[in-house]
Amino acid sequence: MSDLTGLTALITGAAGGIGTALAEGFAKAGARLALVDINDASDLAHRLGKDHRAYVCDLSDPKAIGNSAAQIGEEMGIDILINNAGLGIVFPAEEDRIEDWDRTMAINLRAPWLLSGAALPHLKASGRGRIVNISSQAGVIAIAEHAAYGASKAALINLTKVMAVEWAKHGITSNAIAPTVVETPMALVGWSGEKGERAKAEIPVGRFAKPSEIAAAALYLASEDAGIINGATLMADGGYSIR
Ligand SMILES: NC(=O)c1ccc[n+]([C@@H]2O[C@H](COP(=O)([O-])OP(=O)(O)OC[C@H]3O[C@@H](n4cnc5c(N)ncnc54)[C@H](O)[C@@H]3O)[C@@H](O)[C@H]2O)c1
Repeated sequence: MSDLTGLTALITGAAGGIGTALAEGFAKAGARLALVDINDASDLAHRLGKDHRAYVCDLSDPKAIGNSAAQIGEEMGIDILINNAGLGIVFPAEEDRIEDWDRTMAINLRAPWLLSGAALPHLKASGRGRIVNISSQAGVIAIAEHAAYGASKAALINLTKVMAVEWAKHGITSNAIAPTVVETPMALVGWSGEKGERAKAEIPVGRFAKPSEIAAAALYLASEDAGIINGATLMADGGYSIR
């Protein structure tokens, strides 16, 4: 679909479920990958080809974010940034879990902001920069026990819009994807059995998303053809949020 030959895609959370599908999809489209994760994604980088590299970075650490962006920018350039890493800590709004709140905000919201800013000089130099932020349906509608997670993902959508307004003049588009439950090993632990079947029955398409479908959406937003799409939130939720 998209030919990304000659472009570098920085993907965060690449060692995780959706991140791995993103890496596979972008490699197939011809992009060179900079795979960023707190866990080493070297095996994945090697499996996908010789031009890809893995960078270990704790995205809760602002200094580490700046250092990684500078290193990747210098070694590979950055044309496409996929802010995918995220934490799915859920708890009821009445519980004052301050550490969980702060950690959620640090990874899901502060890190995309800081990394996008640190990548900006390289995205500008690209002339066709693309930022894709992986939000969630929980950032668009209210889901019980998603106080911190939902707030972080809603704020990520608004951050996406602000970046879209500020950076379009540099040829950079910023968009978000808001998936329903995606069938990653981690998500399936929480959404298996009867609970999962009940949730699927409430989704018009009757099923959860596949990681490859989120990668396909990101590939479109990163493509040349999507240059007019800016500040959008692409719902990848089977229609769950329209009801
Ligand atoms: N799986 C779902 O059902 C679903 C639904 C909607 C949105 N999302 C969003 O998609 C994104 C990816 O989710 P996933 O299901 O693949 O999750 P996952 O837990 O499988 O992967 C997340 C990745 O982020 C990395 N990460 C976590 N903390 C980090 C840190 N401090 N520094 C660097 N890397 C760190 C992890 O090591 C992991 O590889 C997240 O932003 C999540 O909120 C997921």
